[in-house]
Amino acid sequence: MLDLVLRMVFCALFCSISARASGCPLRCECSEAAHTVKCVSKDLRSVPPGIPGYTRNLFITGNQISRIGPESFKGLDNITTLSLSNNRITEVESQTFSGLRSLRSLDLSSNQLAVINPEAFTVPGHTLRELNLSRALYNHSSLMNLAMSLRWSTLVELRTLDLSGNRLIYLPSHTFSYLGGLRRLILANNSLVALYNGTFSGLDSLEQLDLTLNALRTVQEEGLAELASLPPGVRLLLGENPWTCICGMEPFAAWLNTSQGHVGDAEGLVCAFPSDMRNTSLLRLAAGQAGVGGDGVALGCHRVGEGADLALQTSYMFLGIVLGFVGLVFLLVLYLNRQGIKKRINDMREACTEVLEGYHYRYEHDADPRLSQVSTTADI
Ligand SMILES: *[C@@H]1O[C@H](CO)[C@@H](O)[C@H](O)[C@H]1NC(C)=O
Ligand SMILES: *[C@@H]1O[C@H](CO)[C@@H](O)[C@H](O)[C@H]1NC(C)=O
Ligand SMILES: *[C@@H]1O[C@H](CO)[C@@H](O)[C@H](O)[C@H]1NC(C)=O
Ligand SMILES: *[C@@H]1O[C@H](CO)[C@@H](O)[C@H](O)[C@H]1NC(C)=O
Ligand SMILES: *[C@@H]1O[C@H](CO)[C@@H](O)[C@H](O)[C@H]1NC(C)=O
Ligand SMILES: *[C@@H]1O[C@H](CO)[C@@H](O)[C@H](O)[C@H]1NC(C)=O
Ligand SMILES: *[C@@H]1O[C@H](CO)[C@@H](O)[C@H](O)[C@H]1NC(C)=O
Repeated sequence: MLDLVLRMVFCALFCSISARASGCPLRCECSEAAHTVKCVSKDLRSVPPGIPGYTRNLFITGNQISRIGPESFKGLDNITTLSLSNNRITEVESQTFSGLRSLRSLDLSSNQLAVINPEAFTVPGHTLRELNLSRALYNHSSLMNLAMSLRWSTLVELRTLDLSGNRLIYLPSHTFSYLGGLRRLILANNSLVALYNGTFSGLDSLEQLDLTLNALRTVQEEGLAELASLPPGVRLLLGENPWTCICGMEPFAAWLNTSQGHVGDAEGLVCAFPSDMRNTSLLRLAAGQAGVGGDGVALGCHRVGEGADLALQTSYMFLGIVLGFVGLVFLLVLYLNRQGIKKRINDMREACTEVLEGYHYRYEHDADPRLSQVSTTADI
């Protein structure tokens, strides 16, 4: 029995020493040959100490780390790829990554970032190329934090920014103004309802803008102007939005027809509403608008307008007839009752005369100066 316990203690000691000798943090897997360290789903509460200096790819995912700061990654200046996805991180402190002088790719997807410091993403030498914030922002305040951080972290070399799955409804203008090198902006799977002047300003190198799976019903003139201000070669993705094919949609449909080359999924864009237009291609709509015929589908705005007018006219006419009829009946009743009415009028006139005479008498009585004088002298 004692022997067994001793052996277990010895083993525990030996095992921990051997783990330390190879320089790998507890609960992590390290491969020196691949320069890779993985600490996956190990219930870690913070970035573990003792990550070897040779590490280039560090994956700390599926843990319970709530905040990260500059002390989290001390002495790890060879890291190029850092994944911290799915960790319940709520706070990224200032200069968190400022020791990572080779960092090129940072994945913070699937976290709950509520506090993002303005200099959270500052990396010396501006080496950061890819930032993944998919499903990472806690609420709209986080987006404001991020906008500030994108400005102050000088991410001039950033090529890819993934902001998908963040339930974004609205993008403040100039959010991306300081990302002049950005090539790929992924805004898919949000709830964006409109594009405004300045939404994409400063994205001078953009090559791909992904807006699939948002809440766009149409793109208004302002949004079209904004899209037109993007660099000429940019490729847009607009699929899986609830395009609503009603009057007012025509400018967007026409724009789509002339910009087919830039919209990667133009062929697949279809109306979602109204129900009788569902699954109608937006491009066929554009053809119908121009009266090209063939397989074009017209929105028929004018017909709809005329129909409404006609309905209104009909209801006015009906109202007129009813009122006329009521008037006629009224007159008829008056005519048939003319004797009674005459009598009533005479009665009323007599009643009025009596009342008026009564007033006349009281007026004269009150206005008698002597009487008022009497009352005032009586007071004295
Ligand atoms: C980073 O890598 C280089 C070359 O592979 C190595 O010389 C250096 O010691 C590493 N840095 C650290 C902190 O281990
Ligand atoms: C960002 O992370 C999500 C989830 O981890 C992944 O699906 C997506 O492909 C990543 N984005 C990029 C641009 O690699
Ligand atoms: C976002 O969450 C933070 C932390 O819970 C809260 O202080 C802030 O008011 C929230 N902002 C919005 C716009 O809901
Ligand atoms: C969209 O994002 C939500 C979270 O905001 C996620 O639950 C859902 O799986 C995502 N959908 C797709 C198709 O990526
Ligand atoms: C957009 O805003 C800029 C100034 O920020 C202004 O010069 C321009 O006329 C605006 N464009 C539209 C279409 O409103
Ligand atoms: C929509 O049209 C596509 C082909 O254009 C077809 O495959 C699909 O089944 C249609 N969907 C509905 C809901 O009608
Ligand atoms: C669609 O674009 C083509 C050129 O690409 C043009 O000839 C045609 O008139 C356009 N149709 C509409 C309805 O704008």
